[in-house]
Amino acid sequence: MSVTIENNLITIDTRDSSYQMKADEYGVLLHTWYGPKTRDDMSELLRYPDVGFSGSIHDAGNDRTYSLDTRVQELPVEGNGDYRTAALVIRHPDGSRSLDLRFEKAIPLYQKKPLEHLPYVFQDQDGLQNPEPEAALPPQAVDVYLKDRFADIQVILHFSIFEAENVITRSVEVINNTEDEIVIEKIAPASLDFTAGDFDWIHFHGRHNHEREMERKDLVHGLSAIGSSRGMSSHQQNPGLILAEKNTDEKHGKAWGALLMYSGSFLGEIEKDQLEQTRLVLGMNPGQFEWHLAAGQSFQSPEAILSFSGKGLNTLSQQYHALINQHVIKKQWQKQHRPLLINNWEATYFNFTHEDILSIAREAKKIGVEMMVLDDGWFGKRDSDLSSLGDWQVNEEKLQGSLKHLIDEVHGMDMKFGLWIEPEMVSEDSRLFKEHPEWVIRIENRDPIRSRYQYVLDLANPKVVDYLYDTFEALFKSNPVDYIKWDFNRSICDWHTPSLPAGRQKEMGHRYILGLYDLLNRLTTRFPEVLLEGCAGGGGRFDAGMLFYTPQIWCSDDTDAYERCFIQHGTSFFYPASTIGSHVSAIPNHQTGRITSLWTRGIVSMAGTSGFELNLDLLDENEKEEAAFLCGRYKLLQPLIFGGSQYRLTDPFKENLCFWSFVSPDRKNVLVQGVVFRTRPNQIGSRICLQGLDPDKRYTLVSENGKAMKQPKTFFGSTLMNAGLLLEPTSGDNQGQEYFLRMEEE
Ligand code: GLA
Repeated sequence: MSVTIENNLITIDTRDSSYQMKADEYGVLLHTWYGPKTRDDMSELLRYPDVGFSGSIHDAGNDRTYSLDTRVQELPVEGNGDYRTAALVIRHPDGSRSLDLRFEKAIPLYQKKPLEHLPYVFQDQDGLQNPEPEAALPPQAVDVYLKDRFADIQVILHFSIFEAENVITRSVEVINNTEDEIVIEKIAPASLDFTAGDFDWIHFHGRHNHEREMERKDLVHGLSAIGSSRGMSSHQQNPGLILAEKNTDEKHGKAWGALLMYSGSFLGEIEKDQLEQTRLVLGMNPGQFEWHLAAGQSFQSPEAILSFSGKGLNTLSQQYHALINQHVIKKQWQKQHRPLLINNWEATYFNFTHEDILSIAREAKKIGVEMMVLDDGWFGKRDSDLSSLGDWQVNEEKLQGSLKHLIDEVHGMDMKFGLWIEPEMVSEDSRLFKEHPEWVIRIENRDPIRSRYQYVLDLANPKVVDYLYDTFEALFKSNPVDYIKWDFNRSICDWHTPSLPAGRQKEMGHRYILGLYDLLNRLTTRFPEVLLEGCAGGGGRFDAGMLFYTPQIWCSDDTDAYERCFIQHGTSFFYPASTIGSHVSAIPNHQTGRITSLWTRGIVSMAGTSGFELNLDLLDENEKEEAAFLCGRYKLLQPLIFGGSQYRLTDPFKENLCFWSFVSPDRKNVLVQGVVFRTRPNQIGSRICLQGLDPDKRYTLVSENGKAMKQPKTFFGSTLMNAGLLLEPTSGDNQGQEYFLRMEEE
């Protein structure tokens, strides 16, 4: 059974983990366990001291050891004597902020209820006409009901269970059954309390052109926090946190992940308390969030995706990869080959003609590229980033004809066609700005903050969302695009919307994201055959919420192969290769000036949704041949890269190389790729230990750098995992390498 409810003890099991809650003698719902499987009542292992200055709930009488300031709780709230950070804060009509939630009931569900207006992790039977009869399935979800002792406020914790992936999701719903309005000031779908354990915390920080750099640090007493107040999940911090025991590494040890399925501002906190206990809270950013809940209304938070691994960080990542690949990415894109594309951005920037685009497409077609993507600059009078966002009329002068005509020409070459758009933005120099200045996010009587000379449209206003839907519905209807790159090129500030009264302005951030999801939902429902790639100045909105609508996301505007090793390494902790947009660009690289070989750039771009972003005409014949070879190789390997288990084999921050591998589910095919950063003279041959092989089977090294081995060598899986694979010597810096191994048939 995936959910066991025995009296007041609720245990949710996945294949290798248990998550447990217990309503104690006062009905307070304790969080008693998250970790390896257990069949015990883990509350038996809790004992608390009398801690001065930590008060007790009233009904605990004189028991001074009973304080919510020290107990491990399933949903910590503010105002009941717990001074640690809370997952739920509610303001009552009298201005007080207190909740005293007690357990009511837990109801197992055989089918998860989809979240309304929000992306969610779906289960296999979702959307099926005739799901399996209830009795045939173990519960797929459980709703846990809590109620305030004093006000008629109910809280439902909605859990769903992904047994094979070792994932549990949680979303928090608040129902206001009182006769007055209440205000939610803070809501966090993830809150995990640990009574024991000495942890490091891992998070992913960065900036534009430098996203998701992994950082692992000791926990200190008190609060450590990450977050975004930019109205987007952000380049600067990703909405995911990992707790790892001190001795945990890629292959060993316990690790817990929490990933928020949300694309707006967020806050992630970790607190080590006075008793050395640890609390993790991840949810909406309370600095930018508030929700007024009228009598009879309910509010549901986004989902948090929780996972536990007892086998190190790599396994934790693989669990997230499997979940995202099968339960976040929409079904129609899961098994589909993703087209190998060429994008004209770094080849031309804004400066292109109709013939330039056709010539890029023609050259690309010759080497095996499958889709031409027309980036920024095809609309309005946009010949630089100074103008025209919002004016989505085709610049027929620049394209020397209609967009439809260009698309037909590209289709005529037997290639797909993709188009760049940035729907949420408006340039100051645009017709839309002049016609609808009230649609721009800004504060009246103050100068708005400019960023890339553009403003953000107020998607908290449903009228703006309707307008954008109509605009893009018409555009896609008359122009048969196969793919859309959906960009978002600035952070939001000057928060104010005329669509809400003064007292409700703090709802705006969330309403903006609901507007965005509504727009994405309507457009993807209307055009289900169009593949969307998310983008926000590269990877500024790389999150599980966006992945529900855009199965791939442009990972970074930094296309330098060396830099990408680090960016993609960090990204891989939560997100699978199938979601990571990664292209071969020109040298010297436009972001760093670094020169790397075409082979190296190709290898790095293969660990994602690959493509090109350069003028192929500038390549010589040998390079064109090599590029064609890379295309062929990628098409051949994409099923393994997307469908296999990914392993991070080295730590680029600590070693002079970055290697990763993809192992097929039957462990028969193994693709090892990576980059050796700096060549040093007279060095002994380096080896890297592989992972995920069958130790007792022999593996043949079939090819090195795409070339079949003349005298293939064979090793036992155990040797390759324990002693390692011998790497080819390198010459020069940043050498990409690739090895392919196949299991010997019996
Ligand atoms: C962003 C994207 C780039 C490109 C430009 C166009 O920076 O990340 O890939 O599309 O916008 O303006």
